Amino acid sequence: MIDRLTSLLGEFKSELEGVTDSDALEALRVKYLGRKAPVNSLIKEIGSLPPEERGSAGQNINKAKKDMESALKEALYALESAEGAGNADAERIDVTLPGRRTPAGKPHPVTRVMDEIEDIFLALGFDIAEGPEVEDDYHNFCALNIPKDHPARDMQDTFYVEGDLLLRTHTSPVQIRVMENTTPPLRVIAPGAVYRRDSDLTHTPMFHQVEGFMVDKDVTFADLKGVLTLFLQRLFGDDTPVRFRPSFFPFTEPSAEVDIGCVICNSNSTTCRVCKGTGWLEILGAGMIDPAVFRHVGFDPEEFTGFAFGLGIERIAMLKFGIDDIRLFYENDLDFLRQF
Ligand code: FA5
Repeated sequence: MIDRLTSLLGEFKSELEGVTDSDALEALRVKYLGRKAPVNSLIKEIGSLPPEERGSAGQNINKAKKDMESALKEALYALESAEGAGNADAERIDVTLPGRRTPAGKPHPVTRVMDEIEDIFLALGFDIAEGPEVEDDYHNFCALNIPKDHPARDMQDTFYVEGDLLLRTHTSPVQIRVMENTTPPLRVIAPGAVYRRDSDLTHTPMFHQVEGFMVDKDVTFADLKGVLTLFLQRLFGDDTPVRFRPSFFPFTEPSAEVDIGCVICNSNSTTCRVCKGTGWLEILGAGMIDPAVFRHVGFDPEEFTGFAFGLGIERIAMLKFGIDDIRLFYENDLDFLRQF
């Protein structure tokens, strides 16, 4: 058996010397160490040897196997280093070539409008607050004077998560969260994503709003008109006409919808598709914070008054950039996005 083992090792070594690539090396491994390798028949024969010879035969066979394994490993390492050196030659980098430019990204149009709105309010002394997008029923509805089963809940078709949790339908719950944790005077805006079961040319299921509110001892509707007129004229131009129309929101009383003169036709076309010939575009909802809301957060409505407003960012971006389909913002079409 020893003789056969010695000649097997000899054959292995001479074949190994002729190997020049890793495929041939693998074939050699299978031939000498695989399932059908001759060394395995030797192992089977151990049982037929006299008992006193079995131990040393087993040891010799194991040593031969180990020797072959380490010879194969060394050969593989040598082959890989040689192949690597070849590749490095082929991939040599010319450091004198000019660098490749990575195209610079740009802020999304919705982000740009959001930044512009934030800058206007920061300059007016407002702070910025944030709230959770997965909100509870209490903050999204009840504390805003929209109790369970109230018909006003149908104004905003809601995505429910589970139990009392939902995707916030507006940024107004941030009013509640801020007022729960601070005391007046307050001047705050709260930008962020909101969600509604809505989808067409002017509605998307996820869109952005900016909430704003101011609470102090003598805040009046005149303050609301002054702040919003200034804001809209900074955003759309100093000569932009602004008007307030009576409206309804459960969390403000009195409430108003605010329109600007149509920036597409300059209020000058009876056939304008955007203002539908009315000359006006509805831009935001607003009003004086309802005393019921103050009571939910522990503010005395006899002592404090305040105004609040909420606007949709995508609608404003559509007007500023002349876009007639809101869904374009969320298709990630680079040709569309590169225009801004
Ligand atoms: C509200 O969401 C109130 N929370 C705003 C408010 C705040 C009023 C504070 C008073 C005081 P409304 O449902 O009208 O109001 O939505 C506000 C704006 O969000 C709309 O004017 C519109 O610009 C935008 N908007 C509403 N639904 C969608 C939608 N599915 N896709 C895109 N924009 C939308």
